[in-house]
Amino acid sequence: MMLLVYAVAAYLVGSIPFAVVVSRAMGLPDPRSYGSGNPGTTNVLRSGSRIAALLTLVGDAAKGWFAVWLALHLQLPAEAVAVVAVAVFLGHVFSVWLRFKGGKGVATAAGVLLALDWRVGLAVIVVWLTVVVVSRYSSLGAIVSALFAPVAAYYALGAGPAFVATLVMSAVLVWRHEANIGKLLRGEESRIGAKKESME
Ligand code: G3P
Repeated sequence: MMLLVYAVAAYLVGSIPFAVVVSRAMGLPDPRSYGSGNPGTTNVLRSGSRIAALLTLVGDAAKGWFAVWLALHLQLPAEAVAVVAVAVFLGHVFSVWLRFKGGKGVATAAGVLLALDWRVGLAVIVVWLTVVVVSRYSSLGAIVSALFAPVAAYYALGAGPAFVATLVMSAVLVWRHEANIGKLLRGEESRIGAKKESME
């Protein structure tokens, strides 16, 4: 019963759509109305406001980090921590405040991983950053680091609940990038800094 309470609480925390909240607070257009239409950091960056993108990144990552940090702080069993990790991530992806049409989960997954094991989180962020800096495709960085994350989690933490949670997050994250994968393959994906991006 308590596990369900933790899961719902984590889901609700994950549901807070910082891209939409920050944009509204800063008088910017709703990120669902331009670019890729995704309520996430990369798309908010397309509004031209780096501050808004940074605040979105920090907010979305912090909610993932906080939920897992709290679960660990409360000394919940490893299985319950894994449930909280997946629940906060799914809250972002299927946000109740956005009629279950949330973001792709990149920043929230990074926050979750940093709280689960900072070495894993850092390694995954370094992979993401490297791919993004080299290719200037945010989505490619997300996909490659999502493939790398379960490998890192397995080596650092073994085949336990945290690894399973990482595997689930990675699978959902890659699936959420379905449209991006199509665009990358067609050579139509927009690079960071590019002006135009068509709505999917
Ligand atoms: O963080 C999401 C990113 O990987 C892709 O975003 O807006 O280019 O679909 P977007």
